[in-house]
Amino acid sequence: IPVDPFDLVIFGGTGDLARRKILPGLFRRFCAGQMPDNAHVIGAARTEISEAAYRDMIRDAILEFGGVEKTDEAQLSAFLQNLSYVAIDARGETGWRDLKALMRRKVVRAFYFSVAPSLFGDLAERLNNHGLTDHNSRIVVEKPFGRDLETAQKLNGDLAAFFEESQIYRIDHYLGKETVQNLMAVRFGNMLFEPLWNSQFVDHIQITVAETVGVGGRGEYYDKSGAMRDMVQNHLMQLLCLIAMEPPARFDPDAVRDEKLKVIRALEPVEPHHIVRGQYGADVDDPDEHPDYRTAVDNPKSKTESFIAMKTHIANWRWAATPFYLRTGKRLCARSSEISIVFKDTPHSIFGEEAGRHRNVLSIRLQPNEGIKLGVTIKEPGPGGMRLIDVPLDMTFADALGPEGADNVDAYERLIMDVIRGNQTLFMRGDEVEAAWAWTDPIIEGWTNSNDVPKPYDSHSAGPDASAQLMRRDGREWREVT
Ligand code: BG6
Repeated sequence: IPVDPFDLVIFGGTGDLARRKILPGLFRRFCAGQMPDNAHVIGAARTEISEAAYRDMIRDAILEFGGVEKTDEAQLSAFLQNLSYVAIDARGETGWRDLKALMRRKVVRAFYFSVAPSLFGDLAERLNNHGLTDHNSRIVVEKPFGRDLETAQKLNGDLAAFFEESQIYRIDHYLGKETVQNLMAVRFGNMLFEPLWNSQFVDHIQITVAETVGVGGRGEYYDKSGAMRDMVQNHLMQLLCLIAMEPPARFDPDAVRDEKLKVIRALEPVEPHHIVRGQYGADVDDPDEHPDYRTAVDNPKSKTESFIAMKTHIANWRWAATPFYLRTGKRLCARSSEISIVFKDTPHSIFGEEAGRHRNVLSIRLQPNEGIKLGVTIKEPGPGGMRLIDVPLDMTFADALGPEGADNVDAYERLIMDVIRGNQTLFMRGDEVEAAWAWTDPIIEGWTNSNDVPKPYDSHSAGPDASAQLMRRDGREWREVT
């Protein structure tokens, strides 16, 4: 179903995100018939280039990053027909009148701030001063949304000076992933799980987001952030919230976000010895192409982490006795994002201990091979007596639902369509972001004050040994990264 007609302005229209994600994503929605024919996309950036040159740039980007096996030329040309460009100065007056002249009345106006956060306030002010927005206009902002509580509060204040909270769409692209939404469907669409979803039945929960890539060309940004700011404060935190939150009364933006906020506010401060930080070493097979972290970020004394593992607790009735273990890192042995709900042992084995004991594990696989598996215990087939084994009840979406079941809609395209529809459910509210920083800040300050140095780990490993020890100390183990 096509969304309503819209004008979408992408500030930072020549940047990496616009070329890799936003515009190729819009093109795929266009091909899927979800973008109305008269949708108008306007790239805006500082560079003085002609509209023709901009269209060429985006054509190349779509061909390279579009993720379409064979791009339909006629469709690509039709898409580019509705793409314009204005050279604009976010901090000056150049270009704003041209932008206004390009925009239509009586359509949804959305402004995507794909620029450094330091420009958010300038853009918001100029949009307002030039009369480019009305009460139905929306702005979309990217992470990083601040680097601590203070900067996030400042950004929220800068935006709130000109926009209502209902107009602000803070993107966390993890919320746009198909399986992340499925997590809510599984929890709240089935009778089976919710009664068991608490400390009485759940031993612990693991969230792993493992990447094989290193910091790539983003060394300068990354070295000032580290895994805590880049991944934990936002993506892992959002996953944790969706698992841990109370059932919202309705699947609507504020009902869902109110419940997530309560989870973040209930997070206990993390003890320093419950955290392991790491920095990756060079790829021994190809150290020139894949150097160690410090070389990659060009900072031989860097104390920034490219890996983090931690144990945290949520201080409320549902979860007080269930630890949550979070782990994320770059240059690990596999790209794998998985949430595992590890249930407790049965209270007593009627088969005797020699039959073996197994735990039910519900694992929700976000990527790749999206799907959900439930490990159940059955009898080992054959005449060998009552021995127990684990088998998975497997719902890999591509197998269960056919190719259409696999996630073929990128998180960005889904989220941009939600912006046009005016649905904020999968976007972070200002108070949520601030609460997440309020929890993160003391942890980072602790490292700075204690001169903590991350532990080295091998490229293609599962992180530093201390990460495995963090689990072993509690008599538990990380699920394998595969
Ligand atoms: C981004 C981080 O938000 O998420 C990157 O800045 C990270 O460092 C990326 O690589 C991971 O996203 P995905 O969708 O590839 O898991």
